[in-house]
Amino acid sequence: MTASTPNTEKPVILSCAQPSGMLTLGNYLGAVRNWSEMLEKSECFFGIVDLHAITTPSQPAKLRQNVYECVAQYIASGLDPEKCHQFVQSHVIGHTELAWILTCITPIGELQRMTQFKDKAAKLGFKSSDDPEDIKFTHAGARAQASINAGLLCYPVLMAADILLYNADLVPVGEDQRQHLELCRDLAQKFNHQYSETFTIPKPYMPKTGSRIMSLADPTKKMSKSDENERASLYILDKPDQIKKKISSAVTDSGSDIKADENKPGVTNLLGIHSALSNKTVEELEEHFSGKGYGVLKNELTELISESLKPVREKYDDLIKDKKYLKSVLRQGAETAQKRAYKILGKVYRKVGFPERDRG
Ligand code: TYM
Repeated sequence: MTASTPNTEKPVILSCAQPSGMLTLGNYLGAVRNWSEMLEKSECFFGIVDLHAITTPSQPAKLRQNVYECVAQYIASGLDPEKCHQFVQSHVIGHTELAWILTCITPIGELQRMTQFKDKAAKLGFKSSDDPEDIKFTHAGARAQASINAGLLCYPVLMAADILLYNADLVPVGEDQRQHLELCRDLAQKFNHQYSETFTIPKPYMPKTGSRIMSLADPTKKMSKSDENERASLYILDKPDQIKKKISSAVTDSGSDIKADENKPGVTNLLGIHSALSNKTVEELEEHFSGKGYGVLKNELTELISESLKPVREKYDDLIKDKKYLKSVLRQGAETAQKRAYKILGKVYRKVGFPERDRG
């Protein structure tokens, strides 16, 4: 089979990332690395979701460049374009169309309850009480509310559309997407109930280790692409000296024991990263580091990360020079994705009651 011939016998896998900056170690361990292990037994679609990326401020030229950098990082991380379909969300008609239909069956309260919406809105100065029916605005919040776009609120509906448009069976994501996945499943069930069986109910897949990598500067916060603190996030293309700097300045905890413990979020995070890369259990690592200091853990981890990411970095450096190739991967990916998307969108339009267009 070539990547452009969809094989509908295999389970369908879909996942995506936003082209809102370089991929972090969190994106890699929580998502992209696991995608590359699923290529053989599944029909895989991996999106670069530029429509999602404009829900937060973005510069047009930077966004365009980020898309190519993202596909180059996908391929460098092991997503062989011969074995999966990689596409840009805005290249495929159907994502926004299906999102609109799903928006019409989504209660606003569900969207206001989403943790990621609340976090992003809070960054803009908007505060709400826990009860979505009882949003109280602070003075600053009321002003900030004017700058919270509806796209940020509807973000999870577009994400549900991304998944349901391909009738995906499995969606491999990090822990932070769990709530969005639940909403997607609810919407699929609701649509099926209202209009008859249409969508597959997708299952989330989260890896045992690496599904929640925390910030190196504040280990109570998720590691994120857009953190302003440059020591907070490790990027998969970071050079060994950058990795060394970031790991050596990573926040650790009081005491000197190397143990995973809820009162030691910094050390727990470093052990989690080690475990995800070395395939050793946290218990094995605790034993290995027993009686040793944080410096030993940090040196070993720096070495491990640098070595693990070296092939990704080297492959990326070659790929990013070949825009023609990257464009051809995205063209083929979009062609295959579009075929599948049209099929499902057509079915949805009929179920909803949209009349067929008369083609003369
Ligand atoms: P994004 O771009 O924030 O992240 C891409 C993937 O990386 C995972 N991830 C993490 N995993 C572990 N630790 C972390 N610190 C960490 N940070 C990010 C995310 O869980 C995700 O799997 N909403 C999605 C993009 C999206 C999508 C979809 C995903 C749009 N449509 C359809 C799946 C299916 C997002 O913002 O990902």
